[in-house]
Amino acid sequence: HRTLDDLDVAGKRVLVRVDFNVPMKDGEVTDATRIERALPTINELSKKGAKVILLSHFGRPKGQVAPEMSLKPVAKALEKFLGGPVEFAADCIGEEAKKTVKKMLDGDVAVFENTRFHAGEEKNDPDFAKALAENGDAYVNDAFSAAHRAHASTEGIAHLLPSAAGRAMERELDYLKAALSEPVRPMMAVVGGAKVSTKIELLLNLVGRADILAVGGGMANTFLFAKGISVGKSLCEPDLVSTAREIMEQAKAKGCEIVLPLDVVVAKEFKEGADREVKAADAVAADDMILDLGPDTVDRIADKIESAKTLVWNGPLGAFEIKPFDTATVEAARFAAKRVKDDGLVAVAGGGDTVAALAAAGVEDDFTYVSTAGGAFLEWLEGKTLPGVAALEE
Ligand code: 3PG
Repeated sequence: HRTLDDLDVAGKRVLVRVDFNVPMKDGEVTDATRIERALPTINELSKKGAKVILLSHFGRPKGQVAPEMSLKPVAKALEKFLGGPVEFAADCIGEEAKKTVKKMLDGDVAVFENTRFHAGEEKNDPDFAKALAENGDAYVNDAFSAAHRAHASTEGIAHLLPSAAGRAMERELDYLKAALSEPVRPMMAVVGGAKVSTKIELLLNLVGRADILAVGGGMANTFLFAKGISVGKSLCEPDLVSTAREIMEQAKAKGCEIVLPLDVVVAKEFKEGADREVKAADAVAADDMILDLGPDTVDRIADKIESAKTLVWNGPLGAFEIKPFDTATVEAARFAAKRVKDDGLVAVAGGGDTVAALAAAGVEDDFTYVSTAGGAFLEWLEGKTLPGVAALEE
């Protein structure tokens, strides 16, 4: 794919797709990571004398104007990071957009209102894409986390203007390739989360790529159950038993070692401070609920991490949102972070709860790369081609 190095941007209007779909509470941005990740691209384009026009979705307004999903507060937050004024256009197409662009000088930055206020965005409507493209001479996509959507501002528009990947997109693709497509081996994947059902494709793809796959979280219960082990009252998907077996068979056929729980932490109820007990994975009582991996399993995972040169991590290993059931996740994550520092392990994490889990362990800055993407990261792990990335490669 092309990068900012391949675009001639001085004096040009450059439409930059960012992902400003950030957590917000009472009109304030509560986690600005996605804004911060977009700064290198914004600053570089601005310095090169481009008029930098930022496009993003925010929330899921379903093609209608919804004031609570306005990007205006995000534009305000961006001003603080840039240390200068940011123009805001109350619409991403039409007269409002044109008026704003007309006022811009070279190097200026503007944010356009939520692209999803128009139904054409999610439909990838060619007319809407054209209306967006009218305000730019070039297009840059810096929103990997929205690249799994074939929408007008992520896909359609890339065919209408000279286009390139932004710096954050470039970095993300480089690290994901280093971790998944061309890993230094042994390559280990750690996959957790509540359900197998949301991660079937991901697990099937990973067993074909990884040398070791550790399964934790609620989904591990389904694997135990598939092996004929009783999991009591634990979260489990009995109808996915054959899927779990298939994943284990594929792993065997492809030489991927699967690490399942050896021991588990159980409680009779799922609440903070509940009485808990460590039990062997095959000794769970009928009224027990598995809420975390046990210490022997964490040791086994740590040993495997120690032997690996590349680590891909998605999902928490236990019910990490309620203490102390975050223990396995926190300990394994800290161990991985230490290997990154001491031995140059390449550790890449992302998807949904993963960033929150790493942040809770205090290691979100110590992994080699932490993706801010949720669904896009999962689809990448599934081996899918992301439409927003593919459009940049044409
Ligand atoms: C995300 O937060 O994962 C991206 O911004 C995509 O949002 P979406 O799931 O609403 O398309």
